[in-house]
Amino acid sequence: MGQYIKVGSTTELEDLEGGKLVEAGGRSIAVFNLGGSYYAIENTCPHRGGPLSQGMVAEDVVICPWHGARFDIKTGSVLGPPAAVGVQSYPVRVNGEDVEVEIS
Ligand code: FES
Repeated sequence: MGQYIKVGSTTELEDLEGGKLVEAGGRSIAVFNLGGSYYAIENTCPHRGGPLSQGMVAEDVVICPWHGARFDIKTGSVLGPPAAVGVQSYPVRVNGEDVEVEIS
């Protein structure tokens, strides 16, 4: 079991459009709010390192801003090239006002 690390508050993140870059446990993580549920995936695109927190969001998908690879925000799976593999996804919980990501 990992450790939950606060990455923001529900007040900060409730109006989040697109992703937000956070640092937790020495990792760069992109946090998303999809209709009131929070998700966290690795920020760095496995293709050439594009920042997924700056990608466009279309429903549950984020599009890498550099070359357009598509990832499932809920699972980190790759949905479209040029990335060949997905990114890690991290469990998120809301603890009172805090949004926390589990880092193992
Ligand atoms: S760096 Fe993300 S698609 Fe190339």
